[in-house]
Amino acid sequence: LNENQSEMLIQIVNKLQDAFTKLGIANLDLPQIAVVGSQSSGKSSVLESIVGRDFLPRGSGIVTRRPLVLQLIRDTSLKGEYGVFLHASEQKFYSFEDICEEIIRETDRVTGKNKGLSPVPINLKLFSPTVVNLTLIDLPGVTKIAVGDQPEDIEKQIEEMVLNYIKRPNCIILAVTPANSDLANSDSLKLAKRVDPKRERTIGVLTKLDLMDEGTDAYDILEGNLIGLKFIGVVNRSQKDLENRKDITSSLEAERFFFESHPKYGQIASRMGTPYLTKILNNRLVNHIQKCLPEISRSIETELSKAQAELENMGSDEGDLQRKQIAFKSLSRFAQEFKDLIDGTDSETDYVD
Ligand code: GDP
Ligand code: NA
Ligand code: MG
Repeated sequence: LNENQSEMLIQIVNKLQDAFTKLGIANLDLPQIAVVGSQSSGKSSVLESIVGRDFLPRGSGIVTRRPLVLQLIRDTSLKGEYGVFLHASEQKFYSFEDICEEIIRETDRVTGKNKGLSPVPINLKLFSPTVVNLTLIDLPGVTKIAVGDQPEDIEKQIEEMVLNYIKRPNCIILAVTPANSDLANSDSLKLAKRVDPKRERTIGVLTKLDLMDEGTDAYDILEGNLIGLKFIGVVNRSQKDLENRKDITSSLEAERFFFESHPKYGQIASRMGTPYLTKILNNRLVNHIQKCLPEISRSIETELSKAQAELENMGSDEGDLQRKQIAFKSLSRFAQEFKDLIDGTDSETDYVD
């Protein structure tokens, strides 16, 4: 698939999911994306840049103390976007600052304020007209020594918590390692290796490139010369940036400047940074979807004939009938568009909803 076709495939999947939602049909099973790594390696920061919204608690020390399962839910009928927590499902959060505060409050509620942890996830749904339906998982970082209310076997407990998510074959693992630490001791790579030894669903992410000792660089690591895995380097906001409330846009600009102006990274700058990481994730999704195409086709056909039968047996409720007819029409259109794509014919038609 070339870039245009990938873009189109994602758009079609979006449309399909919209149609599925309208019809109340079980949706596509897209991969989940989880971050793993040692404490303060930059996991929450990476995840947040991917989502492109400021809402995750970050900072030095153990900040993420419960798994956060973030479900992005596309709803094109929305004007703005909002979040809903499973533990407070009657409340809509329209501000990302409020969402962040609620995550902190809800973490403390279950784990206490003294660095305790809990495997019970916080579930957050983000409804927006501009997201792809995806699930992202922020996880506590690996730590060796118990502090505060943490149990003695803290390392083992966190590992189990993490493995529980990343062992799922449908999970893409973002293995985060800070560039200012020793790669040989990378917790993320060790953990990822246990569940994905061939690294078929592991993406290496090297953070904190801006914090390396003067005169050193990570060029060889990034290029895969060290352990045979290429890394995508990123530069997230520093603790000081967080305190100064530097926004995502300026952070991305600074990141791009960092790579492009660097004497060694300049030549590989197009394969570095958050936008490139997002692109790679996109490619993974498209590959996954491609593999699912035959099955999607089959389920569309089934749904089409079900909808057809339902229409024929429809009662006299005018509104209901009309809604079903519209849904059926759009489903048929998507089915056609989908088939064209699989057959390789270019479908240039611009559909009006
Ligand atoms: P987590 O514990 O792995 O989720 O890490 P966080 O995302 O909470 O980040 C931990 C600390 O490292 C925060 O103070 C971040 O501002 C800082 N940090 C994360 N990534 C980078 C980076 O690429 N460069 C710099 N300078 N600081 C970073
Ligand atoms: Na942290
Ligand atoms: Mg975190």
